[in-house]
Amino acid sequence: MRRKRIYEGKAKVLFEGPEPGTIVQYFKDDATAFNNQKQGVITGKGVLNNRISEYLMLRLAEIGIPTHFVRRLNMREQLVREVEIIPLELVVRNVAAGSFCKRFGMEEGATLPRSIVEYYFKNDELGDPLVSEEHITAFGWSNPRELDEIFQLGLRINDFLCGLFLGVGLRLIDFKLEFGRLWENEEMQLVLADEISPDSCRLWDVETNEKLDKDRFRRDLGGVEEAYQEVARRLGVLPEAGPIDIKGPKVLQ
Ligand code: TMP
Repeated sequence: MRRKRIYEGKAKVLFEGPEPGTIVQYFKDDATAFNNQKQGVITGKGVLNNRISEYLMLRLAEIGIPTHFVRRLNMREQLVREVEIIPLELVVRNVAAGSFCKRFGMEEGATLPRSIVEYYFKNDELGDPLVSEEHITAFGWSNPRELDEIFQLGLRINDFLCGLFLGVGLRLIDFKLEFGRLWENEEMQLVLADEISPDSCRLWDVETNEKLDKDRFRRDLGGVEEAYQEVARRLGVLPEAGPIDIKGPKVLQ
């Protein structure tokens, strides 16, 4: 089947969906880090992220968080609502890690005085710079009311996901979210978009602090595929056929 490719990102491809207002989100095994400077493949990542993101979005929908997720289509694809992506990456941090440690000279693993929300401008050419509410409103990427809603949603999602992950022995260190606008009869609704997966979260084992996320790839720690599988297994969404199936159908043209 040929279909229109709308957008290709570093980890996903978006195709025109079967009905107007829908999009097919295809999860690739490709991995990049440090704004594309490091490139690689994590075998089976696309299949696992498809499942993990589906699971987390469905759980968030249950507590009333609107999301773009409609349904899983196959091993690597899910149907999502077509939204106007707000060009911001919202990062919520509970524990100092990654770029936060560099910026503030902190040791990785230090608990923060409270959860900290940061905004980054989603722009690969600029390397997703950290921005403030001033930049966001002055450049018109969002407005104070919408940004307040995004901020509150980010904190609610953080509270819920911290508990959910803790229940399966994982600490949610930090994560990144993207939001989109959905227009319905002149009314705008803000919805959670993109994905939530070990690509976009830092997850450490509660007992050992072992990293079970994309930092294993970023920092060449080994056991990358196994880490993604372990997160899926703990969430109860590891495909039954296990790693055998993990390559999934080759549906890209
Ligand atoms: P950072 O410490 O590198 O700023 O990353 C913070 C969180 O955001 C971490 O969980 C990984 C996630 N993230 C993305 O999903 N995409 C990105 O491009 C970056 C830089 C981070």
